[in-house]
Amino acid sequence: MAFSSADIEQEASRLYAKLGKLGWSFDSCQAYAPLTLEINQLKKQKNAIILAHSYQTPDIIYGVADFVGDSYALSSHASKTSASIIVFAGVKFMAETAKLLNPSKKVFLPSMDAGCSLADGITAEDVKKLKAQFPNTPVICYINTSAEVKAECDICCTSANAAKIISSFPQDSLIFIPDEFMAKNLSLQTGKKLIGWTAKCIVHQDFNKDTIKSIKSLFPSVKILAHSECSPQVAQLADAVGGTSDMERFVRGSSASSFMLITECGLSDRLRAEFPDKQFIGACSLCPYMKKISLKNILHVLLHEPKENEISIPPEVAIKARKAIQKMLDIS
Ligand code: 13P
Ligand code: SF4
Repeated sequence: MAFSSADIEQEASRLYAKLGKLGWSFDSCQAYAPLTLEINQLKKQKNAIILAHSYQTPDIIYGVADFVGDSYALSSHASKTSASIIVFAGVKFMAETAKLLNPSKKVFLPSMDAGCSLADGITAEDVKKLKAQFPNTPVICYINTSAEVKAECDICCTSANAAKIISSFPQDSLIFIPDEFMAKNLSLQTGKKLIGWTAKCIVHQDFNKDTIKSIKSLFPSVKILAHSECSPQVAQLADAVGGTSDMERFVRGSSASSFMLITECGLSDRLRAEFPDKQFIGACSLCPYMKKISLKNILHVLLHEPKENEISIPPEVAIKARKAIQKMLDIS
């Protein structure tokens, strides 16, 4: 598509209003402008929306996303949209969840390599074996699982509602998969025995308690917010533990001026742009899966709607997996 230099200038100014706060130059906004203009025009033509997780890069979040949020908010938004096409700027389990909740829509994931170490760390067979080992024990799965795994579980949860979902069960002992650290953190929080699995998030597992201790001694007033996928040793040093939406809410409601977010870099970038008066001390790490998504591959799927990027889930799996997610939405 050809755009006039006035259109490009105007779009670059729109991008610069947000990206400039993150150190992007006006020139780089100008370079990205034709791409964001084309994507936004195609969205209108095709009645498409782009849902983006907070870990996506700022050019996606501020350039083309229609809705940005955590796994819970994205699922809820996907279930309600009237758009014909959903392009998911996130990872595969998120796009699958959107398809499960709104099956009549076409859902595209711009890179099929956008996986997740947690979702890839457990199979439906593993869950069947756990169920045989611990019969009559309810099974809660984190949303970071494949549709096949969800189909074997009683209910799903996200970082935003995990404690609430766990506490909704009368039993003292529950199966909670697949994140080992999250199960340990939630067990401490809820007082329930959680039979876990061994999968870990490759981003959050690497944060180290010594780094946090030294930041605390250098900046005594900094508020440390850790994602619940971090190890219990890290979580215990934090002022608050939760999901990305909990971190955002904490920053919004806090009178503190500096924060350290123990999570993926995308969230720090986003909060830096949203709260320019607050200081965010760098501790973040990049998720290689989230970063598979780019403006270029978003444009590609919108233009060509390639079959290989379209999410499809076998009906027998979808029926069972949808129930687990719907139960979560009904409780939350
Ligand atoms: P949130 O639901 O907290 O945004 O987490 C998603 C995720 O993948 C964390 O690594
Ligand atoms: Fe998965 Fe961790 Fe990446 Fe989130 S940050 S998508 S949990 S690998």
